[in-house]
Amino acid sequence: MIELRDITKSFGDKEILKGVSAVMESGKVNLIIGSSGSGKTVMMKCIVGLMEVGSGKILYDKQDFTAMDHHAKKIVRQKIGMLFQGSALFDSMTVEQNVMFPLEMFGDGTLRDKKKRVAECLERVQLKDAAKKFPAEISGGMKKRVGIARAIVLNPKYLFCDEPNSGLDPQTSLLIDKLIKELTVEYDITTVINTHDMNTVMESGDHIVYMYQGQKQWEGSNKDIVFSKDQKLNDFIFASEFLREAKEMRQLDMFKDNAWKEQLQAQLKRDEKK
Ligand SMILES: Nc1ncnc2c1ncn2[C@@H]1O[C@H](COP(=O)(O)OP(=O)(O)O)[C@@H](O)[C@H]1O
Ligand SMILES: [Mg+2]
Repeated sequence: MIELRDITKSFGDKEILKGVSAVMESGKVNLIIGSSGSGKTVMMKCIVGLMEVGSGKILYDKQDFTAMDHHAKKIVRQKIGMLFQGSALFDSMTVEQNVMFPLEMFGDGTLRDKKKRVAECLERVQLKDAAKKFPAEISGGMKKRVGIARAIVLNPKYLFCDEPNSGLDPQTSLLIDKLIKELTVEYDITTVINTHDMNTVMESGDHIVYMYQGQKQWEGSNKDIVFSKDQKLNDFIFASEFLREAKEMRQLDMFKDNAWKEQLQAQLKRDEKK
């Protein structure tokens, strides 16, 4: 579990994060959504310690990361896997060597153990046959999967993905989302994904934090979104006429199912409180 308590971040006199609090749970895909420039990447960099927060606290499993010394932070960082935007693979290394890289940097065990672990991870993302290929020889979706294999090779407790679907077609995106979600549940990882991909939001949004101009504007699940009255969220998610109509149809559908009435009432109450 990762907890953010009132974190802020400024560049000069430009306030980027204006006091954000949220809880990212383990075994869940936690999404940070919002339009470009809303502060998602800055927030992720602050959480993993690539940037320092101005104020506020970040806790990893109740341990205050922001107050840790260099050595303690390093230990936490070794439990973090990252999937970078554009996969960031080493072009001169094979798929296998790319996945081996973190093990060579931080792993212990024999070369045989390491090779076995690489093979396991490649098998898990269905890339066993591409082990000897170079990044230039494989498709965009395969590159993402190599990036995922590399991110999980050290058995991370926390996984961060910044825009994992950028540059992918919708179907490949869904496969990548599915893979990330499966791994999250399988290994009980606390996963945090930055995205503005609506397919991801609707398919794997157990827990969504919607950022608007450096603040948490809304929080809930993909099911809550359909009933939310938050205007900014609605403008962002249901941007087109087509999606607005789809939303209304979904609401009608859900009304037929009694279980959803409770959900709606609970959401309306939450919205009223704001
Ligand atoms: N290193 C930096 N120095 C100054 N401003 C930055 C820096 N990084 C990001 N910003 C600014 O912070 C804001 C939020 O950026 P970012 O977190 O990248 O947005 P998002 O990921 O939501 O698209 C933007 O206005 C951006 O220009
Ligand atoms: Mg970004």
